[in-house]
Amino acid sequence: MARVLSGIQPSGDLHLGNYVGAISRWAREQQPEHFFCIVNLHAITVPQDPAGLRERTVDLACWLLAAGLDPDVCTLFVQSHVAEHAELSWVLECTATMGELGRMVQFKEKSAGKESVSVGLFTYPVLQAADILLYQADEVPVGADQRQHVELTRDLAQRFNTRFGDTFTLPRATLPEAGARVMDLQLVDKRMAKSVESPQGKILLGESEDETRRKVMRAVTDSGAEVRAAADKPGVSNLLDLMAAVTGTDIAALEAHFDGKGYGDFKREVAEAVNAYLRPVRSRYAELRTDPAMVEESLRKGAGKARAVAAETMEAVRDRVGLLPRA
Ligand code: TRP
Repeated sequence: MARVLSGIQPSGDLHLGNYVGAISRWAREQQPEHFFCIVNLHAITVPQDPAGLRERTVDLACWLLAAGLDPDVCTLFVQSHVAEHAELSWVLECTATMGELGRMVQFKEKSAGKESVSVGLFTYPVLQAADILLYQADEVPVGADQRQHVELTRDLAQRFNTRFGDTFTLPRATLPEAGARVMDLQLVDKRMAKSVESPQGKILLGESEDETRRKVMRAVTDSGAEVRAAADKPGVSNLLDLMAAVTGTDIAALEAHFDGKGYGDFKREVAEAVNAYLRPVRSRYAELRTDPAMVEESLRKGAGKARAVAAETMEAVRDRVGLLPRA
């Protein structure tokens, strides 16, 4: 059974792309060997308002539980609740080089044009490596933009193992299936992503059904009037892909269904399909939001399970490196 670990930042609002591409799949495939970490220590690599950070951490936990992650099956926890993350990160920082961290594309993008960036933003991928290696993960489900960080994790693990003896499992990135890519409704050649500035192009999990409907009705379509997938019809193709993803129908069947109908009818049906798809998770979220004690209890339980695994790895690391054992 493969050990799986993934991390998600409590920053920005979750959107349909996060849900279709990652979270819904985590829930569907969850196993006792799967770990999901809300990475609040990564969030503070850029300035955060404390109350806002606290709020978004609980909020993200609610969404993950609403999506169906079950604390009795998998392990869902908050990164800062398990002190070993920061501790292993330090040890790994002493194995990583300035050169390799300087080559990280995400760092280059996030620091470009900034007068001053935190050291934490630079060492961010090492903390991510610690998240992964503490749990001896085999697989790391991530978006394509995180592949380089998982490669770095492998390199650091390999280097540590060579220098100090076999300690860490070498992980590999697993990317979402092709059908799980949701495109922006306005910028039709871009993925729906936090990093893309396109408020009208992203369907948020936390918005109302009316807002979702409005965004779909205003989605960019193409010239012509036919509803069919084609290279010269990227807007319509994206909406067909979206409807296929949320209904589980194939594109050809959808094209046949919309034969003779115009864009207006088409979009109304897409909007309804998206709302119907999100309705259960939105309503469970609303319930959980009123029950902070239950959310807290879930996270406490998750931290306990995570800590047991992390502590064991960290003990081995201290021993290998020559740090005296804790009494
Ligand atoms: N850096 C990841 C992102 O921005 C989040 C993350 C932190 C992560 N730690 C992780 C992802 C460990 C996978 C495994 O999406």
